[in-house]
Amino acid sequence: MIWIFYTTLLGFIFINSTANPVKNVLSLINRDGAERRLLDENLPEDTFVNISNYLFKNGYPFEKHHFTTEDGYILEMHRIPNTKANVAKNQTIPRILFVPPLMCSSIDWVSNGPNGSLALLSFDLGYDVWLLNHRGTRYSMSHIIYNNTEEAFWNFSFHEKGYYDLAASVDYVLNYTESKKLTMVSYSEGTAAAMALATTRLEYNEKIELMVLLSPIGYMGGVSSIVPVLTATFLPILQEFTKAIHLYGVPYNEEVSKLIISVCAYNDDMKKTCSILLGLFLGYDPEQIDLNHLIVMMSDKPSGVAMKQFYHMAQEIVSESFRQYDYGTEENLVRYGTTEPPAYNLNKLTAPMALYYAKNDPNSPIANVEKLLNQLPNVVDSYLVEYEQFNHLDFIAAKDINTLLYDRVLAVMNKIINK
Ligand SMILES: *[C@@H]1O[C@H](CO)[C@@H](O)[C@H](O)[C@H]1NC(C)=O
Ligand SMILES: *[C@@H]1O[C@H](CO)[C@@H](O)[C@H](O)[C@H]1NC(C)=O
Ligand SMILES: *[C@@H]1O[C@H](CO)[C@@H](O)[C@H](O)[C@H]1NC(C)=O
Ligand SMILES: *[C@@H]1O[C@H](CO)[C@@H](O)[C@H](O)[C@H]1NC(C)=O
Ligand SMILES: *[C@@H]1O[C@H](CO)[C@@H](O)[C@H](O)[C@H]1NC(C)=O
Ligand SMILES: *[C@@H]1O[C@H](CO)[C@@H](O)[C@H](O)[C@H]1NC(C)=O
Repeated sequence: MIWIFYTTLLGFIFINSTANPVKNVLSLINRDGAERRLLDENLPEDTFVNISNYLFKNGYPFEKHHFTTEDGYILEMHRIPNTKANVAKNQTIPRILFVPPLMCSSIDWVSNGPNGSLALLSFDLGYDVWLLNHRGTRYSMSHIIYNNTEEAFWNFSFHEKGYYDLAASVDYVLNYTESKKLTMVSYSEGTAAAMALATTRLEYNEKIELMVLLSPIGYMGGVSSIVPVLTATFLPILQEFTKAIHLYGVPYNEEVSKLIISVCAYNDDMKKTCSILLGLFLGYDPEQIDLNHLIVMMSDKPSGVAMKQFYHMAQEIVSESFRQYDYGTEENLVRYGTTEPPAYNLNKLTAPMALYYAKNDPNSPIANVEKLLNQLPNVVDSYLVEYEQFNHLDFIAAKDINTLLYDRVLAVMNKIINK
């Protein structure tokens, strides 16, 4: 069924788009030096800007922090330090940790501008903001033993991102700021990592004041997003193939990024074409997504990803369970003591939870979120965004994100810290 859908959709785009993708790409290839010309001029403001320059330009402070996880990864966390919180006097400064999704970095939490970015809005409300860059992303490419070109470096999925990176981040922030608890905001694949942490290391539930999940990814049966679906369909072949060519992860690469931007930012038609293609992955919502902002976001992508991150999600689609990585019967027995990998025990996730989901989000179908809601014992807020076209990207990039969602999220956060 899904293939009929995609073939029809692609055919539709091909025939009807004012931008014929193939024709445009071919014409670009024929244009000598087009890429170089393009990169010098006509790019939307802030394309290729990095997070610290972006924050300084918008009048926000910035700090860089480094720490090492239990299993040896050296992570870089970015902080928008708030030391004179606007919250009522005599109240401790609330801390907030942002967990990025797949192939993204800290900048995605701020690039929707001061009025439309959850990290900046919470800073303005008095929160001390911490932005994680998990292992394998552009700022966190070091390990105490492994070289980042080695297979062992890329040996992780959302499980390790939660179990090690999030645990270390929470401990680092709490220790550094001498606090007892923090609010954790995660999005997309980051939500799977957050839930993996809180269901496998139960003591972390005590350290989390509120866990906000934007577009929750736990159960993945019925996901229609093109990348996970393709990976799930061809999983065994893909795993063999990538192993044969020693492809374990794809690091951030500025040249690749420039190439993609040179094609996608070439003119308005190409911007639209790229947004339609991305729509297969993220859902399509031309009303809420500004094409120039999309180019700015893409200029930091793909921000480093391990193949195992794709494989674990593909396994979740096939198994329709939310569970640990499947290493195959034999190794599962050794590792887990069972032939099947253990499910993440959601009943044990006692931290207060707030879940936000959408009607046009191919990565987080409503039925899957409802399954989570039925199992999580301490849900303090859940909300299906009312706007019909609200897609995966809208959670961090919609033009009207405040009225559509953030006003509600910030109110819930405030209620919890002021209780
Ligand atoms: C961003 O770029 C500037 C140079 O323009 C550099 O000094 C700074 O360290 C970079 N920021 C990060 C987070 O790497
Ligand atoms: C701050 O809190 C302490 C103890 O909770 C209290 O004794 C003190 O009066 C408070 N100060 C103000 C300015 O509210
Ligand atoms: C943000 O919103 C405020 C009030 O709604 C407005 O005055 C300001 O110009 C906006 N700033 C930006 C950058 O959009
Ligand atoms: C990692 O390995 C590559 C190639 O084997 C080498 O060029 C590079 O210097 C190494 N990096 C580190 C940090 O050891
Ligand atoms: C990947 O990690 C698992 C344990 O988490 C280990 O059993 C396996 O040997 C590792 N593979 C590599 C190539 O390091
Ligand atoms: C905790 O914070 C203190 C002061 O910032 C620092 O000296 C110490 O190394 C930190 N401990 C850990 C385990 O990070």
